[in-house]
Amino acid sequence: MDEPRQGPAGRWHGVIEAYRQYLPVSDETPVVTLLEGDTPLIRSRHIGPSLPGNIQLYFKYEGTNPTGSFKDRGMTMAISKAKEEGARITMCASTGNTSASAAAYSAAAGMQSVVLIPEGYVALGKLAQALAHGARAIQVAGNFDDCLKIVRDITDNYPVTLVNSLNPYRLEGQKTAAFEVCDALGRAPDFHVLPVGNAGNISAYWMGYKEYQQAGVTESVPHMLGWQAAGAAPLVLGKPVANPETLATAIRIGNPARWQEAAAAVEESGGLVRIVTDDEILAAYAQLASQEGIFAEPASGAGVAGVIKLAHEGFFGAEPVIVVCTVTGHGLKDPDRAVALAPEPEKAPPQTAAVVEMLALET
Ligand code: F0G
Repeated sequence: MDEPRQGPAGRWHGVIEAYRQYLPVSDETPVVTLLEGDTPLIRSRHIGPSLPGNIQLYFKYEGTNPTGSFKDRGMTMAISKAKEEGARITMCASTGNTSASAAAYSAAAGMQSVVLIPEGYVALGKLAQALAHGARAIQVAGNFDDCLKIVRDITDNYPVTLVNSLNPYRLEGQKTAAFEVCDALGRAPDFHVLPVGNAGNISAYWMGYKEYQQAGVTESVPHMLGWQAAGAAPLVLGKPVANPETLATAIRIGNPARWQEAAAAVEESGGLVRIVTDDEILAAYAQLASQEGIFAEPASGAGVAGVIKLAHEGFFGAEPVIVVCTVTGHGLKDPDRAVALAPEPEKAPPQTAAVVEMLALET
């Protein structure tokens, strides 16, 4: 089974250099990069082939970005433009990954980052990243939506640069993932699947796919298929959720900032946005790790769970289709969840014979 082509030829210098002609940067823009992007598009070996229909399933694995999530694509743009504008302080609300990325890129740019996170609902690895990169981390006794409201109030009124995906440069950077998918496949996929939280990423992919088509690089655009957790599904319900709840803390959001753009992406592309339960999310998360060798964080399981659900409903039909599913963040972000779901490691005395016996090995 062939892996798709990866990235442009030659050395990789990050998403801004790779896709400069499609991005609002000039020769004066000081590029702050950690060489994000150029992430693998991995053909599914087990989940895809096991599904009914004729589905060529690929995972766009964003866990290999410098801080372990897709956020780095947008952050290189947001921080480079902030630096160009002379910003000193950056600020974001986050369920964890945006804060990790903002902290890292701000550190690289020599800026102070401030991150507002919902107390008790940020996975350990993400918190560790924000702290290690020197962010002022403020735990708010509320949810992501409360954090974002405070961040909007402050960045509207003080000399502090907002780096949430309300910042248009974030989406500009994140759209490069759609370019990479098309470059690797040599065409646009038929369907693009992803988890939806604050709704920036689905909006950014859709921008990217449309721009590549307009530029004549690709002929078609995919249908955008977004997935929300059952307890945090404002886009599906058509109204904000006051107290969002899901084990997939990355997408525990009740009032997405990019609601309009995401709804437009779904409508224009002839796609959909639907619900998966936490049990379905965790089952897909476990399958990805144990069958595909791809360790993702729970929220990333939402998209995979969505593909599985649709395939069993016969949604993709009998004709061959190319389906790309973004795996948004690395499993090491949330080690607590991984350990809680797995069996306890076995114990052995420090003798070879004991281990051989445990494994019931015979020569
Ligand atoms: N997957 C992961 C791992 C995420 O961290 C996020 C969002 C999403 C999916 C959803 O993407 O918000 O663009 O619809 N995380 C944000 C954060 C909210 O603060 O890190 P979205």
